[in-house]
Amino acid sequence: MDWGMKNRLNRILQPETGRTLMLAIDHGYFLGPTSGLEEPYETVKDLIPHADSLMLTRGVLRSCIPPGTKIPIVLRMSGGTSILKELSEEGLTVAVEDAIRLNASAITLSVFIGADGERATLLNLAKLVDAGHQYGIPVLAVTAVGKDMVREARYLGLACRIAAELGAHMVKTYFCDGFEEIVRNTPVPIVIAGGKKRPERDALQMAYDAIQAGASGVDMGRNIFQSDSPVGMIKAVRAIVQKDAGLEEAFTIYEEEKAGTPVLEPQPA
Ligand code: 5RP
Repeated sequence: MDWGMKNRLNRILQPETGRTLMLAIDHGYFLGPTSGLEEPYETVKDLIPHADSLMLTRGVLRSCIPPGTKIPIVLRMSGGTSILKELSEEGLTVAVEDAIRLNASAITLSVFIGADGERATLLNLAKLVDAGHQYGIPVLAVTAVGKDMVREARYLGLACRIAAELGAHMVKTYFCDGFEEIVRNTPVPIVIAGGKKRPERDALQMAYDAIQAGASGVDMGRNIFQSDSPVGMIKAVRAIVQKDAGLEEAFTIYEEEKAGTPVLEPQPA
């Protein structure tokens, strides 16, 4: 692996912990208007200081995020479908040269294993890995779940292993029972998606369980930006991912931020 590839990976997976907190705001690429993302920058400006990277499309990056923003970018490179039709028929939507122009630290696409678009999306992953290697940009494969597929270890493990075999540098999937086995069978770091909004304590429990089971972090969106305290949630998730906080400690961080009495960061003596 060359220096540029390693350097970009280190921008995402923090070298001190080998873990990452990605903030995902790319939902509009197939969902269209998404609650909480009406004005993307208004939503993320107070969250960015607590995230290790921001995952989004080039359209929202160019239109909404000030170029002076200090956050590594994970750029979505796939799309072409909407919730009105077959989601698995995604194609590549961005040239790698544009990802370079946008100073992406990593590039990402979805693969749909077990769905109509399986072959095309897996070949897209292989193409993106080749393009990424040409310029030293790591690829995150998102193991998307088709509407008929269940989120269970047998299926998600298949998807993660195939993505890693095709050269993905990181894989994103859903947390499920038997997650340790998925981690054991996937020779690259795994991050979990948050999925639909759930109660804050449940979302923190899921993040905690995933880290305990060997996840290298989270790529979370709705459970942060749709929370009644987005800053509280991102701080709490960060404590779990980067500081090995337990569930109670993390939930207290969320509750105190929500109540307006945030825990003070330790100050240097
Ligand atoms: C969609 C994505 C989203 O980024 C992903 O689902 C993460 O967001 P959330 O935590 O809201 O599920 O990759 O394919």
